[in-house]
Amino acid sequence: METFTLWCSLHGLVMFLLLTTIDEGSSCEAPSSPWCFRRNVDKSMYLCEWSMNTNESNVTFDLYFNKTKIGNIKKNFHEVHEEVLIKNRSVDIWVEARVGNSICPSPKRSVVLAHIVKYEAPQNVSVTWLKTNLSLSWPAAERNPALAEVWYRRDRRPSESWEKKLININNKNYKYQVTAVNLLKDSVYQVQIRQQSTSPQVKTKLWSDWSPVVTVPAELEHEPEVSVTTTLLNGTRMMILTWKPVPTAASVTGVTYSVSDSSQECPCKRRKRRKRRTDIETNKYTVYVSYSAVNISVIAKNAAGRSPPAVIEEPAVPVADLKLCDKTLLGKKLIRTTCLQWYELQEADPRPKNVINVSGRMKKQERKLRSKNIKNYTRYLYFEHRCVAGKPQTVNMCLFYQKQGVPLSTPLDFTVFSETHNSAHLSWKPIPYEDQRGFITHYNLCITKIDTQHELIGCYNISSSLLKYRLENLTPGSKYNTTLAALTQIGEGPRASVIINTQPEKPVNVWLSLGLLFVFFVLSTTCTIILKRIQNKLFPPVPTPVIPDFTLCQPESPDMMERKEEVHELTLHHILPAEKTVTEKSSEEVGEEWDDRTDEDVEDGRSDSEGSSDECPDFTVQALWSSRKGEVTEIEQADNELELLIYRNGLVFDVKTDLDGGN
Ligand SMILES: *[C@@H]1O[C@H](CO)[C@@H](O)[C@H](O)[C@H]1NC(C)=O
Ligand SMILES: *[C@@H]1O[C@H](CO)[C@@H](O)[C@H](O)[C@H]1NC(C)=O
Ligand SMILES: *[C@@H]1O[C@H](CO)[C@@H](O)[C@H](O)[C@H]1NC(C)=O
Ligand SMILES: *[C@@H]1O[C@H](CO)[C@@H](O)[C@H](O)[C@H]1NC(C)=O
Ligand SMILES: *[C@@H]1O[C@H](CO)[C@@H](O)[C@H](O)[C@H]1NC(C)=O
Ligand SMILES: *[C@@H]1O[C@H](CO)[C@@H](O)[C@H](O)[C@H]1NC(C)=O
Ligand SMILES: *[C@@H]1O[C@H](CO)[C@@H](O)[C@H](O)[C@H]1NC(C)=O
Ligand SMILES: *[C@@H]1O[C@H](CO)[C@@H](O)[C@H](O)[C@H]1NC(C)=O
Ligand SMILES: *[C@@H]1O[C@H](CO)[C@@H](O)[C@H](O)[C@H]1NC(C)=O
Ligand SMILES: *[C@@H]1O[C@H](CO)[C@@H](O)[C@H](O)[C@H]1NC(C)=O
Ligand SMILES: *[C@@H]1O[C@H](CO)[C@@H](O)[C@H](O)[C@H]1NC(C)=O
Ligand SMILES: *[C@@H]1O[C@H](CO)[C@@H](O)[C@H](O)[C@H]1NC(C)=O
Repeated sequence: METFTLWCSLHGLVMFLLLTTIDEGSSCEAPSSPWCFRRNVDKSMYLCEWSMNTNESNVTFDLYFNKTKIGNIKKNFHEVHEEVLIKNRSVDIWVEARVGNSICPSPKRSVVLAHIVKYEAPQNVSVTWLKTNLSLSWPAAERNPALAEVWYRRDRRPSESWEKKLININNKNYKYQVTAVNLLKDSVYQVQIRQQSTSPQVKTKLWSDWSPVVTVPAELEHEPEVSVTTTLLNGTRMMILTWKPVPTAASVTGVTYSVSDSSQECPCKRRKRRKRRTDIETNKYTVYVSYSAVNISVIAKNAAGRSPPAVIEEPAVPVADLKLCDKTLLGKKLIRTTCLQWYELQEADPRPKNVINVSGRMKKQERKLRSKNIKNYTRYLYFEHRCVAGKPQTVNMCLFYQKQGVPLSTPLDFTVFSETHNSAHLSWKPIPYEDQRGFITHYNLCITKIDTQHELIGCYNISSSLLKYRLENLTPGSKYNTTLAALTQIGEGPRASVIINTQPEKPVNVWLSLGLLFVFFVLSTTCTIILKRIQNKLFPPVPTPVIPDFTLCQPESPDMMERKEEVHELTLHHILPAEKTVTEKSSEEVGEEWDDRTDEDVEDGRSDSEGSSDECPDFTVQALWSSRKGEVTEIEQADNELELLIYRNGLVFDVKTDLDGGN
């Protein structure tokens, strides 16, 4: 049909062009000599076609093969079965057009019909970019090789002439394929093709009509730029995928996208639609997936091929601290839409490894067989999915052990650091996955003091999520043996041990007190000196008989008054020492005796009359002594000095009695 309409339109155009140049007078224009041919050597039908330039509506044709006439043809082509024709010998063919009463015969053509083949114009040409080569293919006209003429040029560049290539083609899987090389893959091209038989049987090779002009979009070189927003909806992940439009050169003839996900083992709505891929014309698509790992790929497609896929690898939804499964549907009856998955979890990364899928759609036998692959002592991430309202939903997600054991190894790199005199830090690394053999519930840390008794200080349970611990309240300068083991439900694994040496008590306090003592000493010394200086300044040592001084002390206490009176008494005793000379030595001895007693007596005196009361008698004596200085002799002076000593110590009467006794 397509061929026909094309042919008609071409024909009409030619007719119109010719008619404008036709002589008005002639009744009809002779049609062209007809061609009669088969579409390929296997065909038994011959198609004859010719052309005539007329806009006359009531034209009929008669077709002649020598004497054979096929009349009353309304169109300018006609199909004839080979049975009515002489094929192996030369015949003359022509056509006569009848318009009204006029008859216009075409020129004759001598042909051997069996030798003529004219292929159909290439149809349904598909194009594919292979780097800079453009591959063109279309259904083969016949099983034999053929010749193609390919014309191509860049789109919207009328100034560029057609590149013309003659290419021999072979039939591959009922397809002819040619490759145009060294094109610009980011440009849009126009391509048209015609084809011709090369069969030796065919002596008269006619070119087929041209294929329709094919517009070839540029190559989709890059994967679509996809961005994803994921929303968790109670066990279902809603993933909204959006992607940027492809370059215009690649989308001239339209682009579609296809989104596919890898959750084929647990299908949900796929079953209803029976379609794994979805062609999308917009730049947005929403997929619903379960919580298990899934790969989603987005591919852009145009007439010249498909882009590389943009793969979104969505890992399983991370769960902060996965619990050990308390119950699973392993070995239980499953409803059709339930799907169980076991992911072998080798590291913290929950990327699927050795996934075991068990679906309610499977036969019981198959489910059993698959369940047998679940290994003992191996950690799995267990999923239980359902289909709820056509969307997959994860209803359970937990850590699974088919069978647990005790850990095979100690925690790694158990070390102590930052030891002080009473604390220490411990750190370790988890047990390698393959040695865990069970869900580590916690660590157990025990401390033993290493001394004669090897006393166990205590054991602590430490959360399995911790990898360090601080010990406190240790005794300074001690050795401790700390041991650490990991535990599963089954029991405790081997212990790692490390020795803690606490530092000796820091002599900070001793030094501090010594320092303070020293400072105190220095301070008191300086104070004493300063005080002495001040004292000396205020009360210079040079004895000056100052009466006001004496009077100053006078009113202080009645004791002083008494002592003053005693002084008077003493002055009376002046003569007595004149008789008996007191040696310096004896005075010293007396002094010593006084010294011995002073400690007690002074204290007593101080408790009674404090401060200056002691000093005042001195001044009294000095005053007295100096007042008489002029009168007394030198011997008397010495005697006075003795008196002074006696008075100074306030033991006047004792001394006096001694002296009296001596007399
Ligand atoms: C054919 O059509 C053209 C106009 O399209 C007209 O001028 C011409 O006279 C017609 N010829 C005949 C033979 O009717
Ligand atoms: C025409 O020739 C072919 C071989 O070229 C032969 O097979 C066929 O029988 C011939 N037909 C007639 C009618 O002679
Ligand atoms: C057809 O006619 C031509 C000439 O008129 C003649 O040469 C030829 O042999 C004829 N063919 C047959 C099959 O009769
Ligand atoms: C067309 O022409 C034929 C004879 O040439 C005639 O019998 C027929 O009536 C015509 N038809 C029309 C519609 O003019
Ligand atoms: C060309 O494609 C159309 C639909 O795309 C199909 O109907 C037709 O059969 C195809 N033609 C050939 C020759 O394959
Ligand atoms: C393009 O085609 C040519 C000829 O077939 C071939 O030699 C060349 O390797 C092809 N280039 C690519 C990139 O495929
Ligand atoms: C979440 O899913 C569970 C199991 O399908 C269901 O029982 C529960 O009602 C759902 N919660 C919400 C908020 O939809
Ligand atoms: C289980 O399903 C996952 C994801 O659907 C798939 O990647 C994996 O190959 C499946 N495993 C088996 C053993 O079928
Ligand atoms: C996703 O793709 C990566 C890389 O191709 C593959 O290793 C992984 O198994 C895939 N995941 C799923 C769930 O198919
Ligand atoms: C796991 O242990 C159980 C009980 O000890 C045993 O029956 C089973 O065969 C073991 N499975 C595998 C896969 O080793
Ligand atoms: C430590 O955990 C074990 C259970 O594994 C328990 O029996 C024990 O009482 C815990 N010890 C402390 C100190 O909590
Ligand atoms: C520490 O304790 C562990 C376990 O009891 C023991 O094997 C190790 O020999 C001890 N280390 C020292 C230095 O005592």
